[in-house]
Amino acid sequence: MVKFSSLALFSLLPAALAAPGQLFERLGAPSELDKRAGTFFSNWHEGSGNFQCNNGGGGSYTTNWSGQGGFVCGKGYSPGGRRTVTYKGTYNPKGPGYLALYGWTRSPLIEYYVIDSYDVLAPGEPWTKKGNFTFEEGSYDLYTSTRVNKPSIEGTRTFQQYWSVRTEKRVGGQITTGKHFDAWSSVGLNLGYHDYMILATEGFTNGAQASSGNSNITVD
Ligand SMILES: *[C@@H]1O[C@H](CO)[C@@H](O)[C@H](O)[C@H]1NC(C)=O
Ligand SMILES: *[C@@H]1O[C@H](CO)[C@@H](O)[C@H](O)[C@H]1NC(C)=O
Ligand SMILES: *[C@@H]1O[C@H](CO)[C@@H](O)[C@H](O)[C@H]1NC(C)=O
Repeated sequence: MVKFSSLALFSLLPAALAAPGQLFERLGAPSELDKRAGTFFSNWHEGSGNFQCNNGGGGSYTTNWSGQGGFVCGKGYSPGGRRTVTYKGTYNPKGPGYLALYGWTRSPLIEYYVIDSYDVLAPGEPWTKKGNFTFEEGSYDLYTSTRVNKPSIEGTRTFQQYWSVRTEKRVGGQITTGKHFDAWSSVGLNLGYHDYMILATEGFTNGAQASSGNSNITVD
């Protein structure tokens, strides 16, 4: 499931990173090449659908998907944190899913999204609206939700999700993550220690509604 650019380079990774734990099997490990280029590639999927997630050069990746199940594919940084993420590309989705700056923190374990675009906004769990905010990059509605016994970077866990949803969809631009972290914090949604953070394409099945589409994204 996890693709490495080079097995030879993989063997040079520290033993702790190379350990084939459940975490990296589920959520993808960085290749040494990617880390040198300042990019982190993640490819996770479940279910019987056709989920193509192709690691490209530099900060680029392409996806192509259809069918039952779900996937999260993207490129970014490990660890994530406060930075301005600039990206461009194409995104052609049908059904539930997102184009989003996506990441995780630990202590507390949080899965977060800054959603730039989507076809159908069909949350897997009920969202609770926490407010909205506007700054020079756009206007966003803020939500939180709870995932119960779901896949996470720490295995199957119960955890909170934080969401910023851009009111005007776009594909490409600048996302200053710290502005979202501060907006979440101002409504009591605090993050922990940063794990990875990627500009992700995600698609999933919600009830009877499966998703399909493709994307071609480059993170600068
Ligand atoms: C997606 O994959 C299908 C077959 O697997 C192929 O026909 C199609 O050209 C691909 N589309 C893109 C945009 O890569
Ligand atoms: C944004 O929040 C303000 C203050 O809570 C509220 O008055 C306004 O209606 C909200 N706007 C939207 C679009 O939700
Ligand atoms: C992705 O976009 C790049 C830049 O426009 C292009 O060169 C490449 O062929 C595209 N890849 C796919 C699979 O469409």
